Amino acid sequence: MKVLVIGGAGYIGSHVVKELLDRGAQAVVYDDLSSGHKINLFPGAGFVEGDILDYPKLKTAMEDGIDAVVYLAAKKAVGESMENPELYAENNLIGAVNVLNAMAKSNVKALVFSSSAAVYGMPEYWPIDEEHPLNPISFYGFTKVEMERLMEWYDRLRGIKYTALRYFNAAGYDAGGAIKGRDRNPQNLLPIIREVVDGKRECLQIFGNDYETRDGTCVRDYVHVSDLAAAHVLAINRLLEGKPSAVFNLGTTNGVTVQEVAAATEKVTGKPLPVRYAPRRPGDPAVLVASNRKAETELGWKPVYTSIEDIVRTELA
Ligand code: UD1
Repeated sequence: MKVLVIGGAGYIGSHVVKELLDRGAQAVVYDDLSSGHKINLFPGAGFVEGDILDYPKLKTAMEDGIDAVVYLAAKKAVGESMENPELYAENNLIGAVNVLNAMAKSNVKALVFSSSAAVYGMPEYWPIDEEHPLNPISFYGFTKVEMERLMEWYDRLRGIKYTALRYFNAAGYDAGGAIKGRDRNPQNLLPIIREVVDGKRECLQIFGNDYETRDGTCVRDYVHVSDLAAAHVLAINRLLEGKPSAVFNLGTTNGVTVQEVAAATEKVTGKPLPVRYAPRRPGDPAVLVASNRKAETELGWKPVYTSIEDIVRTELA
């Protein structure tokens, strides 16, 4: 099996490539290295340096005996998407059209797509299952919904079977230290905590401690990136077995507060973590927790990492 991993030098993509190689599959990375890292490329995988907006190059990469595509390359910062929607429209929407057109032209029929819990917007209930209404509150979330809709049509009209994986809060790093390249400008909680532990930041600002949660801070569902990577390989195999297109939430169902993540960090490091309480961050839901029942029953996926302490340990290693 030969898989084209678009965005394979990035955070989740590099873990997916590792999982593919570990399972004996062939992988070719297509990445423009705008946010991914050269050091995240594995010697065992092929590499095409290319932009998702470069349609001819993408199509050529697709024609290289590819059986399935994993499509991760996208802009992903919620705040930035509200300030610069043009950038998100171009990269995420035009990028998705290019991927689907290149697949249609090259007759590649299996697609695993990086979606996000951001498609749900403010949760109406939780744990959130896949039937929860899609009501994105950021332009980023809107692009993910539209990308999923495009895939529905290409399934109907071109027979491209897809699996959209809606990640909750991706966190941690490969426990064996195989992935060295870290986000250049981290926006997410765990990489920020790492910077505090490393002394690159003075303290962790906790955005809001007056939410209706057990300690007043936001609850999230942190899912280990190696568990996410495993889900991609299961999803490819499922599609290549001829199963229909589907959407899966990927989370642990285990909600953890920001305060609990801070406490877990202190346990792992054995040192106090300097924190400061700051106002709520606009657009943050109080609770975001996945139901992963569908992924468990239909994909055969079960996260290995269920303790936030273990996840934090791999993030700090
Ligand atoms: C993240 C992603 C979003 C993705 C979603 C899926 C970003 C900016 N957000 O959202 O794309 O769709 O997961 O679940 O990439 N926090 C602090 N202090 C900080 C940073 C974060 O208190 O310095 C808090 C936040 O308020 C939040 C929690 O930590 O409650 C997690 O934040 P973050 O890592 O940014 O992820 P989400 O906003 O949940």
